[in-house]
Amino acid sequence: MSFFIAGTGSALPEKVVSNDDLAQFLDTSDEWIYTRTGIRRRHVLTHERLNDLAIASAQTALADAGVAGAEVDLILCATLRGDTVTPSLACIVGEAIGSTAPAFDVNAACVGVLYCMEIADAFIVAGKAKTVLIVSAEAMSKLVDWTDRATCVLFGDGAGAMVLRAGSGRLAGELSTAPDSHVIRMPNIEGINSPYNQTQPEKLAIYMDGGEVYKFAVNAMGHNIEQVCARAGLTPAQIDWYLPHQANVRIIDASLRKYKIEKSKVLLNIAECGNMSATSVMVLLDEYAKKGTFHKGDKLLFVAFGGGLTSGAVIIEWKKD
Ligand code: UT7
Repeated sequence: MSFFIAGTGSALPEKVVSNDDLAQFLDTSDEWIYTRTGIRRRHVLTHERLNDLAIASAQTALADAGVAGAEVDLILCATLRGDTVTPSLACIVGEAIGSTAPAFDVNAACVGVLYCMEIADAFIVAGKAKTVLIVSAEAMSKLVDWTDRATCVLFGDGAGAMVLRAGSGRLAGELSTAPDSHVIRMPNIEGINSPYNQTQPEKLAIYMDGGEVYKFAVNAMGHNIEQVCARAGLTPAQIDWYLPHQANVRIIDASLRKYKIEKSKVLLNIAECGNMSATSVMVLLDEYAKKGTFHKGDKLLFVAFGGGLTSGAVIIEWKKD
């Protein structure tokens, strides 16, 4: 007994920013961004609050699953930073959907949704929950330095959600970390006016050593795919759909190359959304679920890497028709 995915939802900001739009104020080009990453456009928050996108995606997922907010036993939210540190984004979603279930945020960077799935599995297996709502929302445009062309062109904003219900569906999960505090780093907001604080505040933006992240990502994704398939008693060729973290098409291609996976099995939306951190795999799942791509019995493999450095993979059998 574990869980199956009963419903999905997503919500993206209205504003779409193309690579050419970025080239208006940065020394970059559509050609450089597209050939190095596969990104053409991304959605960026303007008038919307992240909270509102998270709530909208949660409501869509609940409606899709036919579940009322009050039926939810646990709310988990994968985010680097919500609109407020407290209340957590998970509590804000809980209030909006009329739930009094335990609710908390999980920060495992871009792997956050996979960490949430494994936490949900543990709650369900322990008999502490039957219905879990996982939400992910990221305001990456508020975390990057818009003068740093090496990072700001990579990211986009968005929110997604899934409802999990107790039952068979999850086949295996694999999480790991390779602790490193330099390769991807974003400092937290310092105390406002402590008379005792003697440390120098760091610049509040994401710093990334792109080349090092690239190497880690290719190895970690390949390793996690092998491990999770072995746990599920499957070979990579028996997976019907790959849902990789949408950081860079070249990373995805390189990490899957040795398994000779057909390209049509590898789902992508990076061209239209960029890297939305934890939210990437959620929006990807919802998009392809709504297109009717998945059929009952299909095996979906989620795989991701991110700051921490974190990585992981989860295999789910699709239960909906
Ligand atoms: O969710 C996890 C988040 N992190 C990632 O996924 C990052 C993983 N890494 C990558 O995706 C790639 O390393 C990048 C896309 C970030 C960079 O690609 P690269 O092929 O590793 O390029 P590079 O860093 O080696 O830079 C090559 C050149 C440099 O110029 P010089 O030193 O050769 O003159 C950069 O300054 O490209 C320059 N450059 C740019 N040029 C135009 C860096 N960013 C840009 C840009 N436009 N936006």
